Amino acid sequence: MKTVRDIDVVGKKVLLRCDLNLSINPGGSLGDNFRVKVSLPTIKYLIEKKAKVIIITHFGRPGGKIDPAYSLEKIAKQLEKFLELPVAFIDDCIGRRVKEKVNALVDGDILMLENLRFYLGEETDDEVFAKELSSIADVFINDAFGVSHRAHASTVGVTKFLPSVAGLLLEKEVNTLSELLNNYERPLSVVIGGAKISTKIGFIQSFLDKADHVLLGGALANTVLHAKGIAIGKSYIEKNMTEEVNKLTLTDIKLHLPVDAIVSADKTGKTADIHNDVIGKTKENDLILDIGEDTERLFSEILINSKTIIWNGPLGYIEVDAFAHGTKAIAETILSSGVNSYIGGGESIAYLEKNNLLDKFTHVSSGGGAMLELLSGMTLPGVEALNI
Ligand code: 3PG
Repeated sequence: MKTVRDIDVVGKKVLLRCDLNLSINPGGSLGDNFRVKVSLPTIKYLIEKKAKVIIITHFGRPGGKIDPAYSLEKIAKQLEKFLELPVAFIDDCIGRRVKEKVNALVDGDILMLENLRFYLGEETDDEVFAKELSSIADVFINDAFGVSHRAHASTVGVTKFLPSVAGLLLEKEVNTLSELLNNYERPLSVVIGGAKISTKIGFIQSFLDKADHVLLGGALANTVLHAKGIAIGKSYIEKNMTEEVNKLTLTDIKLHLPVDAIVSADKTGKTADIHNDVIGKTKENDLILDIGEDTERLFSEILINSKTIIWNGPLGYIEVDAFAHGTKAIAETILSSGVNSYIGGGESIAYLEKNNLLDKFTHVSSGGGAMLELLSGMTLPGVEALNI
């Protein structure tokens, strides 16, 4: 893979695609800085080489409309703090004003453009949008591993108009994860959590074929339990996924579902009724919000006896401390086991970073879906499209 090191960027206008899609706290403030930190090496490299750095990224899912809650202004400020250098910001990502601002840059300057997803053309990979985005630069660098599984204008479209290479983060992610894919020690255990099974169902089947154990937690496990006809009270599920879930080999002995759960009548974590229930016994008005103690023990035993662990997604409603115990306990088990461990996914990483539990993982990926796609053997469109 050709990278930024293989091209001459001195004095060039470099369109740098980062994934600075940071997590957001319930109150709206930024939840973590992990993706800012891992984006720094490429940005610093470009500055040292006296390039004019134009950073583009998406933030959230504003759906093609301007939404001030997802403006990148606050992320530009975060980046400035970590770089200890000025980061200019403009409230648009295409058009005359952007061109003027870019033309005024001097070597070593950094400019961050506004959220790409304020335009519909970003997610539809619209050619006109991609061409306009490309028109401000001499070269394109994709360092946004976390969104390289999406064929969007800023990951694929722009490569039709600009010489395109990988950034240092993208290179590191692809090399590390490809090495893992081609050469892992068994038993391989894959832990998949998070809310939506719709975004992960393909990976679950693929890992059932490839891994020795697939452990499911988080709200997505509720959808599987429901599909199996097990009572889950009023827990969050994706109702329209029942048919799809039933196509999984649900009787596969490699598939491990929670055997008990932390349940409550609401998600506040403040009610006195929070308790441990055996799966199948959840009352009509209760919500499953975390894995229970027996599940923690069962999962931990499988993980300790593994040689490789891949983990994506929280195992409970980690926004509230009362329901974060399972995720924390599993992280602690993995860390104390010393097993080779690979973790990805914005929410769980934000949580583990806050709790100082990230350091000892073998590799912390800046991608969630991108990591799972690569490890399940799929190619990433944003990587395929690089053209030098
Ligand atoms: C992520 O957080 O996984 C990436 O930034 C991609 O975001 P998306 O799932 O909204 O495309």
